[in-house]
Amino acid sequence: MNGQYKHILVLTGAGISAESGLATFRDADGLWNNHKVDDVATIEAFERNPAFVHQFYNDMKPELLKAKPNSAHLALAKLEKEYAGEVNIVTQNVDTLHEKAGSQKVYHIHGQINQAVCLNCGRVLETWDDVDTQTRCPHCGISGMMKPNIVFFGESLLYMDKVTQLLSNCDLFVSVGTSGVVYPAAGFVQTAKYHGAKTYEFNLEAASNNYLFNEHVYGKCGETLPSFVYELLESVK
Ligand code: OAD
Repeated sequence: MNGQYKHILVLTGAGISAESGLATFRDADGLWNNHKVDDVATIEAFERNPAFVHQFYNDMKPELLKAKPNSAHLALAKLEKEYAGEVNIVTQNVDTLHEKAGSQKVYHIHGQINQAVCLNCGRVLETWDDVDTQTRCPHCGISGMMKPNIVFFGESLLYMDKVTQLLSNCDLFVSVGTSGVVYPAAGFVQTAKYHGAKTYEFNLEAASNNYLFNEHVYGKCGETLPSFVYELLESVK
């Protein structure tokens, strides 16, 4: 590690929130376990049965609202605040634990649980309250057109212009707690590498795309990430 990184990009997945008590998607007791992805996370499912899909995400809200950031989230917030270079986070998580930890430059490419988007006007309603098939858009006034602002399979990711720019500009790419199976996020490491970034993987074990990374740090990221951040901060002193 050296102090020459000017643009650090961190990609996070469900594993970074595991130590905050939130279930990941593909582990034994994963989020999808009790439901078929096709029933709750595709645009077809929403068109077929919007009330059911709204309920699924409404049911997740109290737990995510209550959850507290862990030492991995806090370490990244400290890095953004204290590092001499630029630090951005691209997260696949719909929780808001990066924000609760104090991170400011966070891009939720898979959406956010506390938002709904109006399919009539495209604008976003921010709320931890339930949203349903009757909810009125506060911007255009139309009722019944709100969709959870969760990127379903079959939809485009959010903030991709910004992410493309960050990937081509970063000189350090750090992936934390993601299984590396859901594209396009799983392919970000390749783009970053192509543009010359050094790449680190933090995970409990080797992710599916682990061969694409220069360095691997295995273990709980709540334990491994704070020391990595400490070393990064020390390297520029
Ligand atoms: P996954 O559940 O697929 O993967 C979580 C990863 O985190 C696994 O590789 C675990 O080994 C690792 N992990 C678990 N606990 C950890 C810990 N304490 N420290 C470090 N690593 C740990 O979650 P994602 O890769 O985020 O999309 O899943 C990607 C997308 O799939 C999600 O964003 C979601 C889902 O479809 C949407 O909701 C749109």
